[in-house]
Amino acid sequence: MDEIINPNESELDLDEYKLRPQYLREYIGQDDVKGNLDVFIKAAKLRNESLDHVLLYGPPGLGKTTLAYIIANELGVNVKTASGPAIEKTGDLAAILTSLSEGDVLFIDEIHRLPRYIEEVLYSAMEDFTLDIIINGDSSSRSIKIDLPPFTLVGATTRIGDLSSPLRDRFGIISHLDYYSTDDLIKIVKRTAKVFDISIDDNAALELAKRSRGTPRIANRLLKRVRDFTLVNELDSITEEITKSSLDKLKVDGEGLDELDHKLLNTIITKFNGGPVGIDALASSIGEEKATIEDVYEPYLLQNGYLKRTNRGRMVTEKAYEHLKISKIDSLF
Ligand code: ADE
Repeated sequence: MDEIINPNESELDLDEYKLRPQYLREYIGQDDVKGNLDVFIKAAKLRNESLDHVLLYGPPGLGKTTLAYIIANELGVNVKTASGPAIEKTGDLAAILTSLSEGDVLFIDEIHRLPRYIEEVLYSAMEDFTLDIIINGDSSSRSIKIDLPPFTLVGATTRIGDLSSPLRDRFGIISHLDYYSTDDLIKIVKRTAKVFDISIDDNAALELAKRSRGTPRIANRLLKRVRDFTLVNELDSITEEITKSSLDKLKVDGEGLDELDHKLLNTIITKFNGGPVGIDALASSIGEEKATIEDVYEPYLLQNGYLKRTNRGRMVTEKAYEHLKISKIDSLF
């Protein structure tokens, strides 16, 4: 059971815990989301009620889990975490829900991957704080109703479109997280460097921010690797030079595109004449899961104009040809 309730706990190493801001005032960026949540949390506390259910959506690595924990901290309640695909049986969900105390936060990551029959049990739990479950006996089945304490469900998803509308409609607060600006990523990189007790030059922080695909998780991961190069090269501080050379060695280019981004764009150009190409053909051609391309890689490439989606499939743009230094004419032959 613990595995279902807190699947991430063993993976949450100390570094990651220390890097996570605990309160809204420490959370950098996403100002609109933060400002609104601040009001809704304060209002719930003033009314002495549980906070309405919150749905957080957006690309991976932007801080949805961090925000869920912050919401619980700001409310002064406990948080239990679960992941959509790990809840397989109605009993799993019932066990989680009945373990909650009044006002607690239940965080369900990847909520779009909850099986439909589990979703249906969630509806009454979210709406009336009751659990309606059917117990199947040998010869008959009966339905039982259990009262639950008021709680706040925080759901996170990379794919809001995959959520059924009855589930989506039961969230009173729906917030979209977007890619971070370079300025916000600079602040995050500097904050993380401080947590690691290492000094970083302004230009080094800028370089890391520019190459992090608008994503704090990537910025922090790259910072850790640059820190390794800095240490082994016996430097006292993270400089622009060591940052550039480390990131080049990690095959992260000046715009933050990594090897897989290059492979994806190159494949469309060389094997599919620049597109259009369907996602299935593309996925098998580069040997990646369709979902990884759709959820992790594509959103950034689309948003930044390297790729476009047409009703006949994905196509690379002029910007992609220019960035990869490939001539459109040459690529045809
Ligand atoms: N670390 C990762 N994401 C962060 C954020 N948005 N604010 C502060 N620190 C972070």
